[in-house]
Amino acid sequence: MSTVTERHEPAATVRAAFDPDRVRADFPLLSRSMRGKSLVYLDNAATSQKPRHVIDAIHRYYETFNANVHRGVYQLSEEATAAYEWGRAMVARYLNAPSPAEIVFVRGTTEGINLVAATFGRQRVGRGDEVLVSAMEHHSNIVPWQMLCEQQGATLRVIPMNERGELLLDRLPELLTPRTRLVAVVHVSNSLGTVNPVREIIREAHARDIPVLIDGAQAVPHGPVDVQALDCDFYVVSGHKMFGPTGIGALFGKRAILDAMPPYQGGGEMIRTVTFEKTTYAPIPMRFEAGTPNIEGAVGIGAAVDYLHQLDWAAVARHEADLLAYATDAVASIPGVRLVGTASRKISVVSFVMDGAHPHDIGTILDQEGVAIRTGHHCTQPVMDFFGVPATARASMALYNTRDDIDRLVAGLHRVREVFGR
Ligand SMILES: Cc1ncc(COP(=O)(O)O)c(C=O)c1O
Repeated sequence: MSTVTERHEPAATVRAAFDPDRVRADFPLLSRSMRGKSLVYLDNAATSQKPRHVIDAIHRYYETFNANVHRGVYQLSEEATAAYEWGRAMVARYLNAPSPAEIVFVRGTTEGINLVAATFGRQRVGRGDEVLVSAMEHHSNIVPWQMLCEQQGATLRVIPMNERGELLLDRLPELLTPRTRLVAVVHVSNSLGTVNPVREIIREAHARDIPVLIDGAQAVPHGPVDVQALDCDFYVVSGHKMFGPTGIGALFGKRAILDAMPPYQGGGEMIRTVTFEKTTYAPIPMRFEAGTPNIEGAVGIGAAVDYLHQLDWAAVARHEADLLAYATDAVASIPGVRLVGTASRKISVVSFVMDGAHPHDIGTILDQEGVAIRTGHHCTQPVMDFFGVPATARASMALYNTRDDIDRLVAGLHRVREVFGR
């Protein structure tokens, strides 16, 4: 299986047949040329390109209904507020959250995780307690917990993985101890492409009354997710990785948990009443959204979900699985290439190293060919350490990529071999 399986398919949407070439036409930037050649964009795990639907929605917001939200008694502010809350409702729908109140707008996955660490974490994690993460986390799902553990005198523990980049789930029973206060695991790894069995991890943790946060940054660009079916306590996403704008993301939290959490930042919007003696706080989700929010971001992420909901996700999954298999075979068959991350359940990422060529050189030569990939540690230094490499070259695909893009990547890699005399 190479798809995110925990999907929510809304019943009443009319779906167009999936055609990657037609989808490409919705993304204006993809028609650019780069270094005199047509652009091949294969850095989607870093950020995705945006469909015209999203760009137009943001444009329309500024041209026709820009105002501050939740405050004005005039029509313009009511329209802006309605659009902001529409964005929240769209995200709730994409994640199948029981209600929009359980969606907190944040800057992105990083801020969502920091919010949980700073509120829920400080409330629940004490001296001698443990937080459990996995060996393939992005730094944003390691460092906030490490900081929390240092502050609270707690310990960070790690679910190990094997040489293919799959978590060793048989280690869970010993790692989930009476001191474990939270499990925080990535749904899809950005550097390896592994799709983790998060439902199973959640089931194991819940059997011991341990809450679970899922980092969904790399899962949601590949289809809707059902947080109710997963039964996760928190789920965090970034708008810019799911074809929406930067600077906006969402934290889903179960209502009972969010209700019991203290505020994150203090300021306007998040209060009920303020006196110099005491402040009382707004109900969720506003309690966690201090200050003027990212209104254009909410409109943009709402438009992204609106766009994504029209797609036939079963067909997208088939297309993405085909692309991954095609890219994996083509890249692996280049002499001197070693794939990093060969899990049986993978999605849209091919990470590799090449004999005699540093990943940065690979990236630079591919750039000359108009092919954009990522090179480096991908904010997963422990993963690089595990595989004994300083960095990898990573091609990450989205629904608008095609076999032609992969052919251009492979031709570029042969050029790398020529340059290095291999
Ligand atoms: C798996 C994963 N988690 C978290 C993040 C952080 O996302 P952001 O930088 O949008 O906050 C990323 C970004 O690459 C990621 O891939």
